Amino acid sequence: MEPKNNDKQIAGEEAVKFIKDGMTIGLGSGSTVNWMLKKLGERVKEGLNIKGIPSSLKTERLANELGIPLTDFSEVAQLDLAIDGADEVDSRLNLLKGGGGSLVREKIVDMAAKELIIIVDRSKVVPQLGAFPLPVEVLPFGWELTARNIAKLGCEPIIRKKEDQVFVSDNGNYILDCKFSAIKQPEILHEDLKRIVGVVETGLFIGMGVKVIVAKNGEIELLK
Ligand code: 5RP
Repeated sequence: MEPKNNDKQIAGEEAVKFIKDGMTIGLGSGSTVNWMLKKLGERVKEGLNIKGIPSSLKTERLANELGIPLTDFSEVAQLDLAIDGADEVDSRLNLLKGGGGSLVREKIVDMAAKELIIIVDRSKVVPQLGAFPLPVEVLPFGWELTARNIAKLGCEPIIRKKEDQVFVSDNGNYILDCKFSAIKQPEILHEDLKRIVGVVETGLFIGMGVKVIVAKNGEIELLK
C-alpha cells in the first residue's frame, strides 16, 4: 500500500489539471495544498500564466518561493477557482476545516471562487463531521468567556497551543478546538456558534458546492 503522504501528493497534483491559462486561483493551506503549489510552481516556470491569492501566510511564503505570482482582493473581485484541503468531508460534501489554523482566510478565499476544489486523502472522507475537533477562531479579548459560551452548545473547547504557547492565527486571533460528540446538523451548529459574541468564524464550510478530489492508494476519485 502507498503511504498516505503519497495520496496527498497525488490529490494535490491532480487538482493542477483544472487550472487553465489566465485564471485567478485561490490558494488554500495545508500539506496537501503544498503539493499542489509545488506542481503549480513547475507549470508557472513552463509558462502557465495565472495569479493566486493565498489563504495563509505559510501559503504566501511557499508561493513566493516557488515563483507563483500573487495578487489580492484590492485587484480581484472573484476568483476563477480555489483549491483547498480539508480535515473532514461528509457525505453531503460539507467540510470541517481549520486544522492548520487558517480557516478565516480560507473561507474568505474559498467563498470568492466560482469553483472550489477540495483535495484530500481517503482518511478525510467521513459519514458525519465531528470526529475531528471543530476549530473555531475567536477574539483574544475575553476568550475564556467566549469558550464558556461555546461549551454550552455541548462541547469542550480547548485553546490551541503550539510549543506551550497559545497559537495565534494569521489574523492575531486564538483558535478553540471544540470536540462535539457528533455534528449532526452542521448548518445549525455554525449559526449557533456565529451568534456568540467573540466568535470570528467556524471551521464548518457548509453547502459550498464543492468538487472533492479524493486519493486512495494512488487512485483518484472525484466526488461532486
Ligand atoms: C488549514 C486547513 C487545511 O486545509 C486542513 O487542515 C488540511 O490539511 P492537510 O492537507 O495538511 O491535511 O483547513 O486550516
